[in-house]
Amino acid sequence: MNRILSGIQPTGNLHIGNYLGALKNWVRLQAEYDCIFCIVDLHAITVPQDPAALRASTREVAATYIAAGIDAERAVIFNQSMVSAHAELSWILTCLTPLGWLNRMTQFKDKAGKNKDSVGLGLYAYPVLMAADILIYKATHVPVGEDQKQHLELARDLAQMFNKTFAPDFFPLPEPVIMGPATRVMSLRDGTKKMSKSDASDYSRINMTDDADTIALKIRKAKTDPLPLPVSVEAAAARPEAENLLSIYAALTDASLADTVARFAGGEFARFKETLAEIAVAKLAPIADERARILADVGELDRLLRRGAERANAIAEPTMAAVKDLVGMLRP
Ligand code: TYM
Repeated sequence: MNRILSGIQPTGNLHIGNYLGALKNWVRLQAEYDCIFCIVDLHAITVPQDPAALRASTREVAATYIAAGIDAERAVIFNQSMVSAHAELSWILTCLTPLGWLNRMTQFKDKAGKNKDSVGLGLYAYPVLMAADILIYKATHVPVGEDQKQHLELARDLAQMFNKTFAPDFFPLPEPVIMGPATRVMSLRDGTKKMSKSDASDYSRINMTDDADTIALKIRKAKTDPLPLPVSVEAAAARPEAENLLSIYAALTDASLADTVARFAGGEFARFKETLAEIAVAKLAPIADERARILADVGELDRLLRRGAERANAIAEPTMAAVKDLVGMLRP
Protein backbone atom coordinates (compact mmCIF):
# COMPACT_ATOMS: atom_id res chain seq x y z
CA MET A 1 0.00 0.00 0.00
CA ASN A 2 1.26 3.49 -0.85
CA ARG A 3 1.01 5.99 1.95
CA ILE A 4 1.79 9.69 1.97
CA LEU A 5 2.97 11.68 4.95
CA SER A 6 3.78 15.37 4.88
CA GLY A 7 3.63 18.40 7.15
CA ILE A 8 3.99 22.15 7.49
CA GLN A 9 5.30 24.12 10.46
CA PRO A 10 2.81 26.35 12.32
CA THR A 11 5.17 29.30 12.42
CA GLY A 12 2.96 32.05 11.04
CA ASN A 13 1.38 32.71 7.70
CA LEU A 14 1.62 30.16 4.94
CA HIS A 15 2.82 31.68 1.68
CA ILE A 16 2.38 30.83 -1.97
CA GLY A 17 5.64 28.80 -1.87
CA ASN A 18 4.14 26.46 0.75
CA TYR A 19 1.00 26.25 -1.34
CA LEU A 20 2.55 25.61 -4.76
CA GLY A 21 5.51 23.54 -3.51
CA ALA A 22 3.49 21.35 -1.14
CA LEU A 23 -0.18 21.85 -0.29
CA LYS A 24 -1.56 22.13 -3.85
CA ASN A 25 0.18 18.87 -4.74
CA TRP A 26 -1.21 17.12 -1.65
CA VAL A 27 -4.73 17.98 -2.81
CA ARG A 28 -4.05 16.31 -6.12
CA LEU A 29 -2.35 13.25 -4.59
CA GLN A 30 -5.06 12.48 -2.04
CA ALA A 31 -7.15 10.72 -4.71
CA GLU A 32 -4.45 8.09 -5.26
CA TYR A 33 -2.85 7.64 -1.84
CA ASP A 34 -3.73 6.98 1.73
CA CYS A 35 -2.72 10.39 3.17
CA ILE A 36 -1.56 11.69 6.54
CA PHE A 37 -0.95 15.43 6.89
CA CYS A 38 0.33 16.86 10.12
CA ILE A 39 0.91 20.33 11.48
CA VAL A 40 4.40 19.94 12.87
CA ASP A 41 4.29 21.88 16.13
CA LEU A 42 7.25 19.95 17.59
CA HIS A 43 9.33 21.21 14.68
CA ALA A 44 8.05 24.76 15.19
CA ILE A 45 9.52 24.91 18.72
CA THR A 46 13.04 24.21 17.45
CA VAL A 47 13.16 28.02 17.43
CA PRO A 48 11.44 30.10 20.14
CA GLN A 49 7.64 30.44 19.75
CA ASP A 50 5.08 32.43 21.67
CA PRO A 51 2.67 29.81 23.15
CA ALA A 52 -0.54 31.66 22.24
CA ALA A 53 0.74 32.38 18.73
CA LEU A 54 1.74 28.71 18.29
CA ARG A 55 -1.75 27.53 19.26
CA ALA A 56 -3.37 30.04 16.89
CA SER A 57 -1.02 29.19 14.06
CA THR A 58 -1.62 25.44 14.49
CA ARG A 59 -5.35 25.99 13.96
CA GLU A 60 -4.70 28.37 11.05
CA VAL A 61 -2.52 25.86 9.24
CA ALA A 62 -5.09 23.09 9.82
CA ALA A 63 -7.83 25.37 8.47
CA THR A 64 -5.68 26.20 5.43
CA TYR A 65 -5.18 22.49 4.66
CA ILE A 66 -8.93 21.98 4.58
CA ALA A 67 -9.67 25.25 2.79
CA ALA A 68 -7.17 24.34 0.07
CA GLY A 69 -9.03 21.10 -0.57
CA ILE A 70 -7.73 18.39 1.76
CA ASP A 71 -10.68 16.17 2.64
CA ALA A 72 -10.53 15.64 6.41
CA GLU A 73 -12.72 12.56 6.19
CA ARG A 74 -10.34 10.77 3.86
CA ALA A 75 -6.97 12.18 4.85
CA VAL A 76 -5.78 12.17 8.45
CA ILE A 77 -5.13 15.73 9.74
CA PHE A 78 -3.72 16.40 13.22
CA ASN A 79 -0.98 18.25 15.05
CA GLN A 80 2.20 16.28 15.62
CA SER A 81 2.45 16.70 19.41
CA MET A 82 -0.91 14.91 19.87
CA VAL A 83 0.73 11.65 18.77
CA SER A 84 3.56 10.94 21.19
CA ALA A 85 5.08 8.22 18.99
CA HIS A 86 6.70 10.96 16.84
CA ALA A 87 8.86 12.07 19.75
CA GLU A 88 9.47 8.52 20.99
CA LEU A 89 10.65 7.20 17.64
CA SER A 90 12.67 10.36 17.14
CA TRP A 91 14.71 9.57 20.26
CA ILE A 92 15.44 6.01 19.13
CA LEU A 93 16.50 7.28 15.69
CA THR A 94 18.60 10.00 17.35
CA CYS A 95 20.60 7.24 19.03
CA LEU A 96 21.28 5.70 15.61
CA THR A 97 22.27 8.96 13.88
CA PRO A 98 25.97 9.62 13.34
CA LEU A 99 26.79 13.28 14.07
CA GLY A 100 28.47 13.53 10.68
CA TRP A 101 25.11 13.09 8.94
CA LEU A 102 23.63 16.07 10.77
CA ASN A 103 26.75 18.17 10.25
CA ARG A 104 26.06 17.99 6.51
CA MET A 105 22.52 19.46 6.72
CA THR A 106 22.50 22.77 4.86
CA GLN A 107 19.23 24.00 6.40
CA PHE A 108 20.79 23.83 9.88
CA LYS A 109 23.80 25.78 8.65
CA ASP A 110 21.52 28.41 7.08
CA LYS A 111 19.26 28.71 10.13
CA ALA A 112 21.97 28.64 12.76
CA GLY A 113 24.25 31.00 10.82
CA LYS A 114 26.95 32.34 13.10
CA ASN A 115 25.09 31.23 16.27
CA LYS A 116 26.04 27.53 16.14
CA ASP A 117 26.91 27.44 19.82
CA SER A 118 23.77 29.14 21.07
CA VAL A 119 20.92 27.67 18.96
CA GLY A 120 19.01 24.80 20.57
CA LEU A 121 19.84 21.13 20.15
CA GLY A 122 16.35 20.68 18.67
CA LEU A 123 17.26 22.72 15.62
CA TYR A 124 20.22 20.41 15.02
CA ALA A 125 18.12 17.27 15.55
CA TYR A 126 15.23 18.65 13.40
CA PRO A 127 15.80 16.24 10.48
CA VAL A 128 15.73 13.19 12.80
CA LEU A 129 12.28 14.19 14.08
CA MET A 130 11.22 14.64 10.47
CA ALA A 131 12.43 11.10 9.69
CA ALA A 132 10.39 9.83 12.66
CA ASP A 133 7.27 11.63 11.32
CA ILE A 134 7.59 9.70 8.09
CA LEU A 135 8.76 6.32 9.35
CA ILE A 136 6.29 5.97 12.23
CA TYR A 137 3.54 5.60 9.58
CA LYS A 138 5.77 3.56 7.24
CA ALA A 139 5.02 6.22 4.62
CA THR A 140 6.20 5.39 1.11
CA HIS A 141 5.92 8.86 -0.47
CA VAL A 142 6.60 12.35 0.86
CA PRO A 143 5.40 15.34 -1.20
CA VAL A 144 7.48 18.42 -0.37
CA GLY A 145 9.21 21.42 -1.93
CA GLU A 146 12.75 21.18 -3.25
CA ASP A 147 14.26 22.54 0.00
CA GLN A 148 13.35 19.32 1.87
CA LYS A 149 15.27 16.98 -0.43
CA GLN A 150 18.31 16.67 1.81
CA HIS A 151 16.15 15.98 4.87
CA LEU A 152 14.41 13.20 2.96
CA GLU A 153 17.72 11.63 2.03
CA LEU A 154 18.51 11.52 5.74
CA ALA A 155 15.13 9.87 6.42
CA ARG A 156 15.99 7.18 3.85
CA ASP A 157 19.45 6.70 5.38
CA LEU A 158 17.91 6.36 8.85
CA ALA A 159 15.34 3.83 7.60
CA GLN A 160 18.22 1.80 6.16
CA MET A 161 20.25 2.14 9.34
CA PHE A 162 17.34 0.89 11.46
CA ASN A 163 16.60 -1.97 9.08
CA LYS A 164 20.24 -3.03 8.98
CA THR A 165 20.58 -2.87 12.76
CA PHE A 166 17.29 -4.49 13.84
CA ALA A 167 15.15 -5.99 11.08
CA PRO A 168 15.58 -6.10 7.30
CA ASP A 169 12.76 -4.31 5.40
CA PHE A 170 11.05 -3.07 8.59
CA PHE A 171 10.74 0.51 7.30
CA PRO A 172 10.08 1.20 3.61
CA LEU A 173 12.50 3.75 2.13
CA PRO A 174 10.36 6.87 1.62
CA GLU A 175 10.39 8.44 -1.85
CA PRO A 176 10.40 12.22 -2.20
CA VAL A 177 7.63 13.58 -4.43
CA ILE A 178 8.82 16.96 -5.68
CA MET A 179 6.38 17.88 -8.41
CA GLY A 180 5.02 20.73 -10.53
CA PRO A 181 6.70 23.84 -11.97
CA ALA A 182 7.08 25.65 -8.60
CA THR A 183 9.11 23.33 -6.39
CA ARG A 184 11.25 26.25 -5.23
CA VAL A 185 9.41 29.56 -5.23
CA MET A 186 11.82 32.46 -4.82
CA SER A 187 11.52 35.77 -2.96
CA LEU A 188 9.70 38.50 -4.91
CA ARG A 189 12.49 40.90 -3.88
CA ASP A 190 15.45 38.70 -4.81
CA GLY A 191 15.23 35.87 -7.34
CA THR A 192 18.23 34.10 -5.82
CA LYS A 193 16.67 33.70 -2.34
CA LYS A 194 13.94 31.21 -1.41
CA MET A 195 10.54 32.67 -0.50
CA SER A 196 10.33 32.20 3.25
CA LYS A 197 8.07 32.91 6.23
CA SER A 198 11.04 34.31 8.09
CA ASP A 199 12.09 36.96 5.53
CA ALA A 200 11.89 40.37 7.22
CA SER A 201 10.16 41.93 4.20
CA ASP A 202 6.48 41.04 3.75
CA TYR A 203 6.91 42.19 0.12
CA SER A 204 9.15 39.18 -0.46
CA ARG A 205 6.18 36.78 -0.32
CA ILE A 206 2.51 36.40 -1.13
CA ASN A 207 0.71 35.15 1.96
CA MET A 208 -2.27 32.83 1.70
CA THR A 209 -4.27 35.47 3.59
CA ASP A 210 -3.28 38.56 1.56
CA ASP A 211 -6.25 40.44 0.11
CA ALA A 212 -6.61 41.22 -3.60
CA ASP A 213 -5.06 44.70 -3.38
CA THR A 214 -2.07 43.46 -1.40
CA ILE A 215 -1.44 40.60 -3.85
CA ALA A 216 -1.64 42.98 -6.83
CA LEU A 217 0.66 45.49 -5.13
CA LYS A 218 3.26 42.87 -4.19
CA ILE A 219 3.32 41.47 -7.72
CA ARG A 220 3.53 44.96 -9.23
CA LYS A 221 6.48 45.75 -6.94
CA ALA A 222 8.18 42.37 -7.51
CA LYS A 223 11.73 42.78 -8.72
CA THR A 224 12.22 42.21 -12.46
CA ASP A 225 14.85 43.13 -15.01
CA PRO A 226 14.31 45.77 -17.73
CA LEU A 227 14.06 43.27 -20.63
CA PRO A 228 10.81 41.95 -22.12
CA LEU A 229 9.75 38.44 -21.03
CA PRO A 230 12.09 35.62 -22.09
CA VAL A 231 11.36 33.74 -25.29
CA SER A 232 12.56 30.29 -24.18
CA VAL A 233 12.90 28.18 -21.02
CA GLU A 234 16.69 28.39 -21.45
CA ALA A 235 16.57 32.19 -21.62
CA ALA A 236 14.30 32.25 -18.55
CA ALA A 237 16.77 30.11 -16.59
CA ALA A 238 19.34 32.90 -16.83
CA ARG A 239 16.86 35.45 -15.39
CA PRO A 240 15.83 34.27 -11.92
CA GLU A 241 13.13 36.90 -11.22
CA ALA A 242 11.43 36.35 -14.57
CA GLU A 243 11.66 32.58 -14.22
CA ASN A 244 10.16 32.77 -10.73
CA LEU A 245 7.09 34.78 -11.77
CA LEU A 246 6.56 32.55 -14.81
CA SER A 247 6.84 29.42 -12.63
CA ILE A 248 4.27 30.81 -10.20
CA TYR A 249 1.91 31.52 -13.09
CA ALA A 250 2.49 28.01 -14.51
CA ALA A 251 1.79 26.32 -11.17
CA LEU A 252 -1.33 28.41 -10.48
CA THR A 253 -2.79 27.56 -13.89
CA ASP A 254 -1.67 23.89 -13.95
CA ALA A 255 0.41 24.60 -17.05
CA SER A 256 4.01 23.68 -17.77
CA LEU A 257 6.76 26.31 -17.58
CA ALA A 258 7.47 25.78 -21.29
CA ASP A 259 3.86 26.55 -22.28
CA THR A 260 3.78 29.57 -19.98
CA VAL A 261 7.04 30.96 -21.39
CA ALA A 262 5.69 30.45 -24.92
CA ARG A 263 2.44 32.20 -24.05
CA PHE A 264 4.08 35.41 -22.77
CA ALA A 265 7.30 35.33 -24.86
CA GLY A 266 8.64 38.80 -25.61
CA GLY A 267 5.76 40.51 -23.77
CA GLU A 268 5.86 43.45 -21.38
CA PHE A 269 6.36 42.73 -17.68
CA ALA A 270 3.74 45.27 -16.61
CA ARG A 271 1.02 43.50 -18.60
CA PHE A 272 2.15 40.03 -17.48
CA LYS A 273 2.19 41.13 -13.84
CA GLU A 274 -1.43 42.27 -14.12
CA THR A 275 -2.47 38.89 -15.53
CA LEU A 276 -0.50 37.07 -12.85
CA ALA A 277 -2.11 39.16 -10.09
CA GLU A 278 -5.59 38.38 -11.45
CA ILE A 279 -4.87 34.65 -11.50
CA ALA A 280 -3.30 34.70 -8.03
CA VAL A 281 -6.31 36.53 -6.58
CA ALA A 282 -8.75 34.20 -8.34
CA LYS A 283 -6.97 31.12 -6.93
CA LEU A 284 -6.11 32.34 -3.43
CA ALA A 285 -9.16 34.42 -2.44
CA PRO A 286 -11.58 31.45 -2.22
CA ILE A 287 -9.05 29.59 -0.04
CA ALA A 288 -8.70 32.60 2.29
CA ASP A 289 -12.50 32.93 2.55
CA GLU A 290 -12.98 29.25 3.31
CA ARG A 291 -10.13 29.35 5.85
CA ALA A 292 -11.85 32.23 7.68
CA ARG A 293 -15.15 30.31 7.67
CA ILE A 294 -13.46 27.23 9.19
CA LEU A 295 -11.66 29.29 11.83
CA ALA A 296 -14.95 30.83 12.93
CA ASP A 297 -15.83 27.48 14.54
CA VAL A 298 -12.76 26.58 16.59
CA GLY A 299 -14.69 23.92 18.55
CA GLU A 300 -15.40 21.97 15.37
CA LEU A 301 -11.83 22.39 14.13
CA ASP A 302 -10.40 21.12 17.44
CA ARG A 303 -12.75 18.12 17.29
CA LEU A 304 -11.49 17.37 13.82
CA LEU A 305 -7.84 17.54 14.97
CA ARG A 306 -8.55 15.25 17.92
CA ARG A 307 -10.27 12.76 15.64
CA GLY A 308 -7.29 12.98 13.25
CA ALA A 309 -4.90 12.31 16.15
CA GLU A 310 -6.90 9.22 17.18
CA ARG A 311 -6.70 7.86 13.66
CA ALA A 312 -2.97 8.68 13.46
CA ASN A 313 -2.35 7.03 16.85
CA ALA A 314 -4.10 3.87 15.71
CA ILE A 315 -1.55 3.58 12.88
CA ALA A 316 1.49 4.71 14.88
CA GLU A 317 1.06 2.66 18.05
CA PRO A 318 1.57 -0.85 16.61
CA THR A 319 4.68 0.37 14.77
CA MET A 320 6.03 1.93 17.97
CA ALA A 321 5.38 -1.31 19.89
CA ALA A 322 7.22 -3.32 17.22
CA VAL A 323 10.13 -0.85 17.29
CA LYS A 324 10.40 -1.16 21.09
CA ASP A 325 10.39 -4.96 20.86
CA LEU A 326 13.12 -4.89 18.21
CA VAL A 327 15.28 -2.47 20.21
CA GLY A 328 14.85 -4.56 23.37
CA MET A 329 12.59 -2.45 25.55
CA LEU A 330 10.19 -4.06 28.02
CA ARG A 331 6.59 -2.95 27.48
CA PRO A 332 3.64 -3.09 29.89
P1 TYM B 1 7.96 24.17 6.18
O1 TYM B 1 6.86 24.55 7.08
O2 TYM B 1 9.20 24.98 6.18
O3 TYM B 1 7.47 24.07 4.68
C1 TYM B 1 6.29 23.37 4.35
C2 TYM B 1 6.34 22.88 2.92
O4 TYM B 1 6.44 23.98 2.02
C3 TYM B 1 7.55 23.79 1.16
N1 TYM B 1 8.14 25.10 0.87
C4 TYM B 1 8.35 25.57 -0.36
N2 TYM B 1 8.10 25.04 -1.58
C5 TYM B 1 8.42 25.80 -2.66
N3 TYM B 1 8.98 27.04 -2.56
C6 TYM B 1 9.24 27.60 -1.37
N4 TYM B 1 9.77 28.82 -1.29
C7 TYM B 1 8.91 26.84 -0.19
N5 TYM B 1 9.06 27.10 1.14
C8 TYM B 1 8.57 26.01 1.76
C9 TYM B 1 8.49 22.89 1.91
O5 TYM B 1 9.37 22.21 1.05
C10 TYM B 1 7.54 21.97 2.64
O6 TYM B 1 7.13 20.92 1.78
N6 TYM B 1 10.62 20.19 7.44
C11 TYM B 1 9.34 20.49 6.81
C12 TYM B 1 8.17 20.11 7.68
C13 TYM B 1 8.11 18.66 8.02
C14 TYM B 1 7.87 17.59 7.13
C15 TYM B 1 7.88 16.41 7.94
C16 TYM B 1 7.64 17.51 5.77
C17 TYM B 1 8.25 18.13 9.26
N7 TYM B 1 8.12 16.77 9.21
C18 TYM B 1 7.68 15.16 7.36
C19 TYM B 1 7.45 16.24 5.21
C20 TYM B 1 7.48 15.08 6.01
C21 TYM B 1 9.34 21.98 6.46
O7 TYM B 1 10.30 22.52 6.08
O8 TYM B 1 8.23 22.66 6.61
